[in-house]
Amino acid sequence: MNNFGLDIWSNKNFIIEDGEVKLNFKSMPSILDITEKIRSNGVRGPILLRFPHLIKKQIRSLYSYFDSAIKENDYTGSFNAVFPLKVNQFPNALNAVTSQGKEYNYGLEAGSKAELILAMSQANIGSNITVNGFKDKEMIMLGFIASQSGHNITLTIEGLGELKTIIEVAKESNLKLPNIGIRVRLHSSGSGTWSKSGGMDSKFGLTSTEILEAIALLKESDLLQNFTMIHFHIGSQMTDIAPIKRALREAGNFYAELKMMGADSLTNINIGGGLAVEYDQYSHAKSHNYSIEEFSSSVVFLLGEIMNAKNVQHPNIFTESGRFIVASHAVLITPVLELFTQDYHEKLLKFKDVNPPLIEELRELNRLLNNKNSIEYLHDALDHIESLLTLFDLGYIDLQDRSNAEILVHNIIKKALYLTSTFKTEELKQLQVNLQERYLINASIFQSLPDYWGLKQHFPVMPIHHLNADPIRAASLWDITCDSDGEIGFNPKKPLYLHDINLDEEEYFLGFFNVGAYQETLGMQHNLFTHPSEYTIEIDDISYEIKHEIESKSILDILSSIGYDSSKILNKLKTQLIKSSFITEKEKCDTLAKLETFIEQNGYLRTTN
Ligand SMILES: Cc1ncc(COP(=O)(O)O)c(C=O)c1O
Repeated sequence: MNNFGLDIWSNKNFIIEDGEVKLNFKSMPSILDITEKIRSNGVRGPILLRFPHLIKKQIRSLYSYFDSAIKENDYTGSFNAVFPLKVNQFPNALNAVTSQGKEYNYGLEAGSKAELILAMSQANIGSNITVNGFKDKEMIMLGFIASQSGHNITLTIEGLGELKTIIEVAKESNLKLPNIGIRVRLHSSGSGTWSKSGGMDSKFGLTSTEILEAIALLKESDLLQNFTMIHFHIGSQMTDIAPIKRALREAGNFYAELKMMGADSLTNINIGGGLAVEYDQYSHAKSHNYSIEEFSSSVVFLLGEIMNAKNVQHPNIFTESGRFIVASHAVLITPVLELFTQDYHEKLLKFKDVNPPLIEELRELNRLLNNKNSIEYLHDALDHIESLLTLFDLGYIDLQDRSNAEILVHNIIKKALYLTSTFKTEELKQLQVNLQERYLINASIFQSLPDYWGLKQHFPVMPIHHLNADPIRAASLWDITCDSDGEIGFNPKKPLYLHDINLDEEEYFLGFFNVGAYQETLGMQHNLFTHPSEYTIEIDDISYEIKHEIESKSILDILSSIGYDSSKILNKLKTQLIKSSFITEKEKCDTLAKLETFIEQNGYLRTTN
């Protein structure tokens, strides 16, 4: 039975039971059950489910693997982590991170003024705040204000200009100085889609010459005692452990050299993020080649080895892993609205009293097809359709005959695929690809899976039910935006097969997994589709609770968020309707009420599914 690669990407977070995907935690609720409960209140469109226990699991895993590596290697520095806000700033995700991370003193990383304000207001007291990215004087002053307000904050400088501004602010004010970090520009660069953050041509960090200049400036201004951290980040989703190890060796040697030059307060090395997540559903295409265990022990072992060789005390290790912490916590549920080849449904056949002989033969093939004769009858049908199409071109059969022929052949192929689902020949596999089914999903790829749109990043996708039956339709997924980019096409190298569902009789929901990192903040409002309705699911031993509901923005709210006056829009629409002629006053009233309801709902499709 197809398990959609659950054993590869799900980290045992989900299981298939009774044909449904269930949470592999405590009372093990089914995702379908949660979805149906939410939809029973009239919610339509895509739904984002958050599972905070999965954030806790990742935080615990990060700390416990590093702690074990520290013990095993007799490493004397401590392990510390901060969560990079850029990965997910949404309140219900961030609250889960800060509350689940409290017992670990888990901190936050900010990369902009707004994120710094968020960090200052949301960080657990006493936890670390690190600040990366380019900074102006105001942002640097915000760092001083944070330090004065009791936060344990480190401003990591990206260039000498920033250090000069820190020195200037220190001279001008009596506010408590933040710690100073230096981002080093390594020659080592990473691997994978997001590897541009490292390497000599990267946008960030100081070269060795600039670092020497920075140390001189710090000494000259009597601020060397505030220099506590060096930082590097070679890119997100590092697919290969080898470049990570190279970068660690390089950064470790920077650290040791600076210590030996008299940077006595330097005690921390911040290795940035990059810890990868498994997004792939196919064992031949796994997206990374190492585990958290290998990653943590490599970091601790290598840094210990470098420091021991240079007789330098082991530094405290900081990480800024984001994707690893939150990717798994969010699942996007999308209802399927339509299967396009249902246009070939047998009920659409309209036979005449007298049909062309080849059509009569196709009727017989369709009627008599079984698992013994399926391949032979399929070949006959493919042969007949060729002839019938030629007859149509020559004017010997009419449009109704052609339509009947197409429906019959389509059904014969479909039946043959069902009957031979376990013993597929190359020919049948190719037919399956040619006969792709297009599933229309009630969602926007631009809004909910922007990394698929921009970078073709694959996200695990599977139906959340019907899993007792074999999925046999080669599937491409179309979203409801008016844009041909809003499509996840069928990829024969990573084939997605889904079920053949009659949507008039039953519903079909797809789940996109591991969407909790970056997708929500990068998501864009193309066609004015907005963030899906979201729900936090807290699971206990007996059941689960649906909390923190935030419904997708209404049409009026989305228009006002981009600068329109929503009351003016509403008034204009009402006046246009009131002035119109040829309907009764009652009809006007009813239509006005409908109009108001429509625009106070979100813009996703509501009919049937
Ligand atoms: C400086 C810095 N730290 C941490 C991260 C988070 O990386 P990841 O989500 O791969 O852990 C990033 C993201 O690219 C980053 O730029």
